[in-house]
Amino acid sequence: MSRLVILSNRVPQTTRGAQAGGLAVALAEAARLGSLWIGWSGRIGTGTELAVRAERGVSYAVFDLTETEHHGYYTGFSNNTLYPLLLFRLGLMRFRAEEFAAYEAVNRRFATAALPLLRADDLLWVHDYQLMLAPGALREAGARQRIGFFFHTPFPPPAIFTVVPRARTLLVGVCGADVIGFQTASDRDGFLACAASLLDATVDDEGSFTHAARRVRTLVCPVGIDADGFARTAREAAQHLPAQRLRQSLHGAALLFGADRLDHAKGLPHRVDAFDILLRQHPEHRRAVSFLQVAAPSREEVAEYRRLRREMDERVGELNGRHGEPDWIPLRYITRATPRATVAGFHRLARVGVVTPLRDGFGLGASEFVAAQDPLDPGVLVLSRFAGSAATLDAALLVNPFDAEAIAEALHRALTMPAEERLARHATLLGHVRSQSAAGYATHFLDALAGSAAPAREMAHV
Ligand code: G6P
Repeated sequence: MSRLVILSNRVPQTTRGAQAGGLAVALAEAARLGSLWIGWSGRIGTGTELAVRAERGVSYAVFDLTETEHHGYYTGFSNNTLYPLLLFRLGLMRFRAEEFAAYEAVNRRFATAALPLLRADDLLWVHDYQLMLAPGALREAGARQRIGFFFHTPFPPPAIFTVVPRARTLLVGVCGADVIGFQTASDRDGFLACAASLLDATVDDEGSFTHAARRVRTLVCPVGIDADGFARTAREAAQHLPAQRLRQSLHGAALLFGADRLDHAKGLPHRVDAFDILLRQHPEHRRAVSFLQVAAPSREEVAEYRRLRREMDERVGELNGRHGEPDWIPLRYITRATPRATVAGFHRLARVGVVTPLRDGFGLGASEFVAAQDPLDPGVLVLSRFAGSAATLDAALLVNPFDAEAIAEALHRALTMPAEERLARHATLLGHVRSQSAAGYATHFLDALAGSAAPAREMAHV
């Protein structure tokens, strides 16, 4: 079997807190024995050395970024330009040419760091928007291996994507890959429409096209979790101190629970509004419910994230001031990274799981909530219709995350749902979560990559 070589901005061990990296968590479960994983160390430094270490059968080769690289590549073009663009948030996007130049240079750095470590029959798998130019850079540097690329974010249609200066360059970079993977069919459609319009690609019925004399295939391949493993973690964690304390503190109140990165795409202010509306319009829930929102700090270098943090502090304070009682705090809010196992235990205690991003590539929190439930007395998932997971988890209560009234009604419906309906919905959801495993995700993608025409032998002049 070919060796798997993963390239991603973050590698699991450098993730700041267990909640802070959906991609790193998803891939850590998918990486197989013998894999090599190349990424940023998570540190700012001046050294150019690769640090290599092995852990549980996977080798990690990581390098530091300089302050300037980090600022231009990560804070700048990745998170001030591309991320808002791909999440359909044009109003938050800003472009600076020098940040794009840093992004190009760091993508090239990934390619040159990887190249000497590669074996002829390796399968390379590059991840996410931080590395859109890496496949092209690998080809330019002479890589002849099969290369896959996966978008963990959504991918917008041309009317949005073409707003970013250098849109064509970005697409050409990704098209250095042989197989490009997406979370949903609509993300793939958006990408293919961009390829048709910016690269003059003629797309066939299977979503493949020829670019620079090479065949590029596209694939819809949603990420997944190890559902049984997560269920076990949740069952055990529910007996441990943090979950026990939480349970006791509820005094029988129903728990609504959300766990997200503190990110503008997660719809957190809208969620607070929805809870406010619920308490006003359905006063029977006062004192009978408690909402716990864990919001792990994220990308604090980016001004928009700092602004969101201030906004949330204010809104949470307002809500608790308006509705709270001396012995009842309606909304509990934690802005610290919380271990994944602890979160699993909280999911298990929750009557309602609230996953309402304005837009999300997949939204693994939805799968985790479902897997963590007691199948004999499950909670109800309220899920944004703009999360990639909604394509399969449509037995959840689907909501428009911009519509606080509609979310409030879904919360009410979830809190009052008869046991029979809860059980039926959960059984359907669990079936989907079980069938979308982390290992299955990797196998599906890598089988397609391994089966793609070997570019190496065809592309002597690229
Ligand atoms: C999203 C992105 C990932 C990223 C993660 C955490 O899930 O799709 O690529 O790793 O957020 O963000 P961070 O900037 O901390 O890596």
